[in-house]
Amino acid sequence: MAAIKVKKVEAEKVKRLLKRLNLYDGKRRPKREGDFVLLPILDSAKVQELEFEVLDVELPMRPDRQIYKNLESVLREKLSENELKHLRRYDVIGDIAVIQIPKELEHRREEIVEGLLTVHPFLKVIAVKGFHEGAFRIRDYGIIWGEERLWTVHKENGVKIKVDLSKAFFNPRMKGERYRLAQLVKDGERVLIPFAGVLPYALVIARYKNVHITAVELNKEAIKLGLENIKLNEKKLKGSIEVIQGDVFEVLPTLGTFDRVISPTPKGVDALALTLRKAKNSLHYYDFVHEENINQFKNYIIEQCNNYGKKCEVRIKKVSDYKPHVYKVCADVEIKN
Ligand SMILES: C[S@@+](CC[C@H](N)C(=O)[O-])C[C@H]1O[C@@H](n2cnc3c(N)ncnc32)[C@H](O)[C@@H]1O
Repeated sequence: MAAIKVKKVEAEKVKRLLKRLNLYDGKRRPKREGDFVLLPILDSAKVQELEFEVLDVELPMRPDRQIYKNLESVLREKLSENELKHLRRYDVIGDIAVIQIPKELEHRREEIVEGLLTVHPFLKVIAVKGFHEGAFRIRDYGIIWGEERLWTVHKENGVKIKVDLSKAFFNPRMKGERYRLAQLVKDGERVLIPFAGVLPYALVIARYKNVHITAVELNKEAIKLGLENIKLNEKKLKGSIEVIQGDVFEVLPTLGTFDRVISPTPKGVDALALTLRKAKNSLHYYDFVHEENINQFKNYIIEQCNNYGKKCEVRIKKVSDYKPHVYKVCADVEIKN
């Protein structure tokens, strides 16, 4: 992640300059280091032209609006302290709120709906979510308030994403991760995205970088939405996106290699060997790993690299909690030869 190191006394002035030139990365937090401050930037090449030294450091994302906290404080007047403990984090996707209501709070459904509408007056649908099902990873939803629909247009990272939760997978919580990858991708790269869904990764990357992306997805409904999404964002995209409908395990062997491969692998699917073979310089491979097995996972990837005669540097990044002690992780694999 790119940043510049400036003296603390000059930080505000430099930050204003970077903002004026659209080079300041407002989605990340600056960091103090003694008498210096690390300022997050968007475009290393342009900032270098201003004669700043650009460093590769990881600066944390700014937290999302504290929407969960707001719901909690609205409900504080109506729910007991013990009931509040059962309140779960929820998502707002376009004008749809998606929440889990545990059995301990079933009798409070009406208050929760009212609370959500107070915090987000623009909502048109409130749905409770079940589990992901089948190869397409579609969740089971029940609408508990509002219009009878599960499609909407969600905005994230400067793109519009049409989703239909009843037809295709979408996870708004990967917003920060998509932004992180968009910053790592370099102009001119050829990028492969298997398991592409309605194209959230492809859209965000093409929004920021002039790249050619090949996206592969099996679910025809996701492909339809993805094509609509390309149209919806046409004017904003710097890069281009080509979509292939089909099974990743059949399509990838027919394709050549790519500068970078991004694999948002569905849970329980092992596509490591396949995606590694397709990557010339970088692979970002998502998987679900118990915290005790993270090193083992890293070594497994290095072993696979060796099997294919590639020398790799692997960094494992915890992306989100999945269940106690199990994380969704991204293995950032740099291929050295
Ligand atoms: C975890 S979801 C990720 C979707 C998308 N990248 C996102 O982040 O929203 C996995 C996706 O892979 C698709 N999928 C599952 N098995 C597949 C296969 N064998 N070939 C192609 N796509 C597949 C599913 O339909 C789903 O859209």
